Amino acid sequence: MGTGIELVSELIERTNDLRRAFRDNNFRPDSLKKDTRRYSMKDAVKLVGRSHQAIRDAEGDGRLEPPEIGESGRRLGFTLKQINTMRDVFGTRRRRSDGDEPIVIAIQNFKGGVAKSTITTHLGEYLAQEGYRVLLIDCDSQASSTSTFGYLPDDEIDEEDTLLPFLRDEEESLHYAIRETYWDGLSIIPSNLHLYQAEYSLAADVTPDTFSMLHEGIQSVAEDFDIILLDPPPALGMISLNVIYAANALLIPMPPSMYDFSSTISFLTMLYETMEVLEDKVGKIDYKFVKLLISRFDENKSGQVTLVDLIQSEFGNVVLSSKLRESAEIVTAGNLQRTVYELDKANTKVRRRCLNILDAVNSEIELLIRKSWPSHAKALKERGLI
Ligand SMILES: Nc1ncnc2c1ncn2[C@@H]1O[C@H](COP(=O)(O)OP(=O)(O)OP(=O)(O)O)[C@@H](O)[C@H]1O
Ligand SMILES: [Mg+2]
Repeated sequence: MGTGIELVSELIERTNDLRRAFRDNNFRPDSLKKDTRRYSMKDAVKLVGRSHQAIRDAEGDGRLEPPEIGESGRRLGFTLKQINTMRDVFGTRRRRSDGDEPIVIAIQNFKGGVAKSTITTHLGEYLAQEGYRVLLIDCDSQASSTSTFGYLPDDEIDEEDTLLPFLRDEEESLHYAIRETYWDGLSIIPSNLHLYQAEYSLAADVTPDTFSMLHEGIQSVAEDFDIILLDPPPALGMISLNVIYAANALLIPMPPSMYDFSSTISFLTMLYETMEVLEDKVGKIDYKFVKLLISRFDENKSGQVTLVDLIQSEFGNVVLSSKLRESAEIVTAGNLQRTVYELDKANTKVRRRCLNILDAVNSEIELLIRKSWPSHAKALKERGLI
C-alpha cells in the first residue's frame, strides 16, 4: 500500500469489498433482502381491525387466501402483503381521503448522528405496516437509508436511479426513481455518493426555482402516496434547502446531551434564517407540525434526565412525549443492516421493550399525520382521540 492518494484508493477498495461481503453474508443465499416476517392471527386481528372469526370466514368463502402451510403442517402466518389484502377486502385500510394533502415530513437536524436515518427507516416501516402508502426519499449521499434497504449504494445504485437527474432538470417527474421495496407499501428513492454533485449543479445557476425543485418533484408523484419521508444530509447545503422547502412537516431529532442541544439551537437559528430567505425568494412555508423528538436518550447517563425534564418544561408540547431511548437492539439491527421491526420476533424482553418504544414514538407521529388530514381529524375528534 502507498502512503498518499494510493493508500486512500486502496482503503476505498477494501472497504467496498468488506461492505459487499458483509451484505452478502447478511442476506444469504442470494444477497437479496426480503421480508421474511410472518404475522400471527392475533397480529392480524389488531392490524386489520376485524375478528379472528371474520378472517376465518373470509378464508372459508374464498375472499381471502389462507397463509402458507409449513413442513410441520401448521399455518406459517400472514405476510404483510396478505395483511394489506385483508384490509382491502374488509375496507379497513387507513389512508388519506382525496381531500387530504399528502404529508411530506423532513426528519431534519444539521447535526450528524442524531438518528435521522434510524428514525426515518423505522417510521417508514411502521407506517407502511399500518397500511399507508409510504415513499422514503434518501436525500443524503451517505445513503444510510438506501443501505438499510439492502443495497450497496455505490455498486448497485447508479446516479440515474437517485434524485440527481431530476435536480439537474433532466427529468419531468420523479416517477423514474421510485422503486418498491420488500416491505409491502413502502417505496424508496435511493441515493449514492454521486447525489453530492447536485450541490454543485444546483449552485451553478441559482434562481428562485433552484430551491423548489424537490418540491416540484414530490408534487409530481405525491398523488400515489399518503406519506413521504425525507432523510436529508447533516448539513446546510442546496439539497437541505430543497428539503426544507419541500416538506410540509418537520421532525427534529435531538439527543439530550449539552453538545447536541447546543447544535440544535444552531440548527433552529439557521433554519429561521433559511426560512426567511426562502419565504422572500420562493414562497410561504407553512408546516402542519414542527416537533422535537428526543433521540438516543440514555437515562443512565448523568445529566440526561435533568436535561430532558428541562427541555420538556421549556418546549411543552413542541417536544413529542415519547422519546427514542438508546437501545442495544437498534445497534444490533444496524449491524445486521436491518431495522428492529425486521429482526426475528423471538420475544426477548429487551426486544419487546425496544419495539414498544419504537411503536410509542411512531404512533404519536401517526396521530399528528392523521390530525393534519381533515377527513381523519373529524373521526379522531368524534372518538375523543384529539
Ligand atoms: N436509539 C438508538 N440506540 C442506539 N443506537 C442508535 C439509536 N439511534 C441511532 N443509533 C445509532 O447511531 C448511529 C447514527 O444514527 P443515524 O445514522 O440514524 O443518524 P443520522 O442522524 O442519520 O446520521 P447522519 O447525520 O450521518 O446522517 C447509527 O449507528 C445508529 O445505529
Ligand atoms: Mg443519516
